[in-house]
Amino acid sequence: ESIKVFAPATVANVACGFDIFGLAVDNPGDEVIVTKRQDDQIVIQQITGDDGKLTFDIQKNTVTVPILKYLSHLDIKHGFDIILNKKMPLGSGLGSSSASSVAGVFAVNQLLNKPLNTEELLPFAMEGERIACGSAHADNVAPALLGGFVIIRSYSPLDFFKINTPADLYVSIVHPDVEVNTKDARHILKNEVSMNKTISQMGNVAGMVAGLISENYDLIGRSMVDYIIEPIRSILIPQFFEVQMAAKENGALGCSISGAGPSIFAFSRGKETAEKVGLAMQKEFTKVNIQSNLFVSSI
Ligand code: HSE
Repeated sequence: ESIKVFAPATVANVACGFDIFGLAVDNPGDEVIVTKRQDDQIVIQQITGDDGKLTFDIQKNTVTVPILKYLSHLDIKHGFDIILNKKMPLGSGLGSSSASSVAGVFAVNQLLNKPLNTEELLPFAMEGERIACGSAHADNVAPALLGGFVIIRSYSPLDFFKINTPADLYVSIVHPDVEVNTKDARHILKNEVSMNKTISQMGNVAGMVAGLISENYDLIGRSMVDYIIEPIRSILIPQFFEVQMAAKENGALGCSISGAGPSIFAFSRGKETAEKVGLAMQKEFTKVNIQSNLFVSSI
């Protein structure tokens, strides 16, 4: 018995919501194929699309760690063969490790006739994130699991939910060929934030949620400002301000870093604008000889 599961890339933070906002795209994403074994071994049989960078060690791989935690939590002794087809860049700010974690644990839960519901899989998928970048944040795994735009209201206790998004809202994501390690991108952040910045950020978080729910595109755009994280992390991304400016000049509602970067995302109203915006963003990277990939998706 075997199952093939696709889990999508995700944009975490979505400008103002560090560690609390995340959204899933239509593509790219990872594919995981899980097959039941006769014994109780978990074996990674094959990994493709990773240029040999990912480990086959089941205690360290982001697909198998959540599966091991899940099986031990339910006290189930069952073996599985795993094939991971990476279909998106690693370390890109697109939630690559999360997609693998979600696909694996979702597949195993299906093969075991769903002892847990989809929401209940989140804490296990988060363990993959802990392995991949040293912190069990949920703003990539939760949208990869549930789809759409997800808010993590609280981590302890875990409380998360999905909200509606306007039908015509599109995201353009540009992934430049630059390396940013999520662990490093978290380390450079400050632990203290001023009252003034906190107030401005809270205003934008509230504006973003209200804008999405009431389908107010202008309000969404005005709320896409990050006073806390972007000023620090943008130094890791060459051309960041030029790309952001190009996105806005070409009609984007707003533009910021996708997750920990280096990918940059922009929101637009309508697919045509999103495509134009994406190309304009890419052009800024081309000017300094940086290659990039563009993904345009509805939300
Ligand atoms: N919220 C996380 C961060 C997402 O920005 O560090 C990274 O995957």
